[in-house]
Amino acid sequence: MNKVLEALNIDQSPWLTKKSNQKFATENPSTGDVIAEIVPTTCDEYLAILDKSQTTFLLWRMVPAPKRGELVRLIAEKVRAKKNELAELIGLEVGKSFQEALGEVQEVIDMADFAIGQARMLYGKTLHSERPLHRMYEQWQPLGVVGVITAFNFPVAVWAWNAFLAAICGDTVIWKPSKTAALCAIALQKICDDVMREHNFPAVFSLIIPESGAITDSFVDNKKIALLSFTGSSAIGRQINQRVAARFGKIILECSGNNAIIIDETADLKLAIPAVLFSAVGTAGQRCTTTRRLFIHEKIYDELVKNLVSAYEKIKIGDPLDQQNHMGPLINQQAVVDFENALMVAKKSGAKVLYGGKKINAPGYFVEPTLIAAKNEWDIVQTETFAPILYVMKYKDFETAIELQNKVPQGLSSACFTANLKQAELFLSARGSDCGIANINMGTSGAEIGGAFGGEKETGSGREAGSDAWQQYMRRQTNMINWSNELPLAQGIKFDV
Ligand code: UN1
Repeated sequence: MNKVLEALNIDQSPWLTKKSNQKFATENPSTGDVIAEIVPTTCDEYLAILDKSQTTFLLWRMVPAPKRGELVRLIAEKVRAKKNELAELIGLEVGKSFQEALGEVQEVIDMADFAIGQARMLYGKTLHSERPLHRMYEQWQPLGVVGVITAFNFPVAVWAWNAFLAAICGDTVIWKPSKTAALCAIALQKICDDVMREHNFPAVFSLIIPESGAITDSFVDNKKIALLSFTGSSAIGRQINQRVAARFGKIILECSGNNAIIIDETADLKLAIPAVLFSAVGTAGQRCTTTRRLFIHEKIYDELVKNLVSAYEKIKIGDPLDQQNHMGPLINQQAVVDFENALMVAKKSGAKVLYGGKKINAPGYFVEPTLIAAKNEWDIVQTETFAPILYVMKYKDFETAIELQNKVPQGLSSACFTANLKQAELFLSARGSDCGIANINMGTSGAEIGGAFGGEKETGSGREAGSDAWQQYMRRQTNMINWSNELPLAQGIKFDV
């Protein structure tokens, strides 16, 4: 048993020790070795969790919001105390480099701090009625049980974006993580369980790791889940969206991205090159915010490509827990197959490999970070491949570059490197980027939690994390109070009998 499981007190957890013949293995993608065998949630257990979560909601919604924030604060304290161990587990189970894994745990802590403050700021508006001696206002009420489906690539932060806001809003939360990141979820759930038990909080946070697809189906289709927050591919997001809409459920979708950086002829390349590197290669190209397309002005194209290739040569690939390395493995064998297929298809379309392009011949799921000269209209360039492949393209005219960057089905993140104020403003204008995130002189990935996170088009709908994203975890109610002795009707209607 790996020591980090002990350090996080999950080695003896029922998730690992209970008897079951349905156990599944979670793997270290750097070696292909099994880390632990996990006992999944049965259908009966799932139904019991759902019921418990609903009854807990009836209590929790009446707990004052700042007190709900206290639960989040206590959880964040334990997360702070175990920051290194959690990061190590993330590196071990999903192959994220230790620095980035620390960043991810920090994202959980930041999100907690944000939610704790937000718990005192669930503001509604006071409005002016058109009728005398009438008061009109809005207030925000909790929704119910919130289902959170997360992907392997952000095995703790995306849960925190959703769960902490939902909790301070008075909702209860059931988390269904990716099976490939089950240990990370178990470690975080253990922290939540300890806090809830030690401080007598009700069961606000629960975890399910379904043993069958039928449980996941029920999770999506069940009317008891008031809001479903889904992170994953657009293909699955499309189906989930339809199913949740069919039952009039609420949904937040954070699906595929196909993010681009435009580098114009005035750009400061000292900033642009490291930004491209981190955005394209960080998390081995497995962030939804990863830079997948690069548009370079023709005047600087040759020089920049040359410099990028030399920068790519310096990327150290290997054990993500070794701090010397920049890039760890892909998540599993299927991801390597997808990487190789994407390259094959790109080459068939006429692509030229500028750097990389191969699987690394060693245990684990390592591939080379890859630069490819491509064309935006190719199907493969229009698709999100969860791997460190960057399609490089030349442009002449800035407006055309913006048009091309928008010409994909997805709309999550975008960036532009320029020292030209007019081009920067154009990029950020209504004629500019059509994405949920648009940055100047920084990369497409690595967003702060304080902003609202999410995208447009096939990336989905809704926003998570900062700004006013909390409103999605509540329902808005408009209230009128008549304190006059009359009953005037709105719009001046007379209805005397
Ligand atoms: C994701 O890949 O699903 O902006 C989330 C970023 C991170 C979050 C990515 N803060 O890259």
